[in-house]
Amino acid sequence: MSTPASDALVLFGATGDLAYRKIYPALQALIRRGSLEVPVIGISRSGWTLERLRQRASASLQEHGAGSDAAAARLLALLRYVDGDYRDAVTHQRLRAALGDARRPLYYLAVPPSLFSPVVNGIGESGSGDGARVVVEKPFGRDLASAQALNQTLHRRFTESSDFRNDHYLGKEAVQNLLYFRFANAFLEPVWNRNYVSSIQITMAEEIGIQGRGRFYEEVGALRDVVQNHMLQVLAHLVMEPPVGADSEALRDEKVKVFRGIRPLAGEDLVCGQYEGYRAEDGVAADSQVETFVALRLHLDTWRWAGVPILIRAGKRLATTATEVLVRLQCPPQQVFGKAAAANYFRFRLGPDRVAIAIGASTKHAGTGMDGESVELYVCNARGAEMSAYERLIGDALKGDPSLFAREDGVEAAWRIVDPVLNLPLAIHPYHPGSWGPQKAEALAEPYGGWHCPLEA
Ligand code: BG6
Repeated sequence: MSTPASDALVLFGATGDLAYRKIYPALQALIRRGSLEVPVIGISRSGWTLERLRQRASASLQEHGAGSDAAAARLLALLRYVDGDYRDAVTHQRLRAALGDARRPLYYLAVPPSLFSPVVNGIGESGSGDGARVVVEKPFGRDLASAQALNQTLHRRFTESSDFRNDHYLGKEAVQNLLYFRFANAFLEPVWNRNYVSSIQITMAEEIGIQGRGRFYEEVGALRDVVQNHMLQVLAHLVMEPPVGADSEALRDEKVKVFRGIRPLAGEDLVCGQYEGYRAEDGVAADSQVETFVALRLHLDTWRWAGVPILIRAGKRLATTATEVLVRLQCPPQQVFGKAAAANYFRFRLGPDRVAIAIGASTKHAGTGMDGESVELYVCNARGAEMSAYERLIGDALKGDPSLFAREDGVEAAWRIVDPVLNLPLAIHPYHPGSWGPQKAEALAEPYGGWHCPLEA
């Protein structure tokens, strides 16, 4: 069903870090593509002027976007600015005035979750909520109860079809390709189940630390920051059933079924780590017990996947920056050539700078002996997408297409998986920056062939 496009973009948190790093560059890219021609109203309580906001947006495009070009000039011309406290009715009246004739604004809440409620209420009370859409950024709450409270806040003023919960991993080309590769090919389906797959693992490794975000990170940790959302979304693309139809709800229905099928975590399913030096970072407590690394084993209780080990690990200050999936198949049932051949696998490199889909296989060495070696068949090996995840997602939200956004029931079902371990006094194992995390995490994957380290292409 097509819905009318938004006729204004309102950016709460216009002077903040997310707007600077991601949103202005995405807007510039949308303008270059001819997909953005509506007023962009920045709003903030920073005491700024429109001129100062334009300077900030320009600096953002220089540092993270395409520099100064015609699209940059157009973005600066489309910018408006409203200054004021989000809790103050006067601010929302000013915003109402700045919206002019716009009747279907897209409100982008690039603000901390504690401000969602005042912003949403202010929009509703000033009469600017009808026909509007709202984008909120992860984290969608910090546990199941707060996620439910957040959903209730949104639903006081907006219907679920107007809510766009932004998990930027869903906007990544490589993550969408997982879905495409699975369901646009027939050869995968016969083996894509517990009869042929021996294990599934995902590694999200980052060389960077917390980059000055100490205060934020102390509130989240790796499990909340990237596992409950990004990693579970990637997993859903790998294991979901084919959607019944091409509409956004069919796709999201299947993902919710996956989350509902995953057993809630128990303490023994995970290993937490913290890189040495984390406690000395700005904004971090000297005795912090927050995990910068987590490795976990999940159980997916469905007909297709029952008994297949699913492993996820994610961490900061690891040996490299790469997100990669490895789906190992069972070994051949018989050693026809005397020696056991390596198990086949599918490898999906999801970024950051290149994406790849490869199949691990064995081939024969030239010569009289029946000896072989492991090779990789590249199905696809490409540079990262030219469209950033933020460009894709903001463009979709402006058009009103929710397919690539998290849905209320999916967010809550994903929290239900991690909720039982959030307040457990789990051991935090130290690890060296530049390593693959604490030694203890190795044991988790050992029975299933060990962790795969995504070092090469
Ligand atoms: C964000 C997390 O959601 O994703 C960050 O808050 C993390 O901690 C980032 O670094 C990773 O995103 P990407 O696109 O660089 O893999």
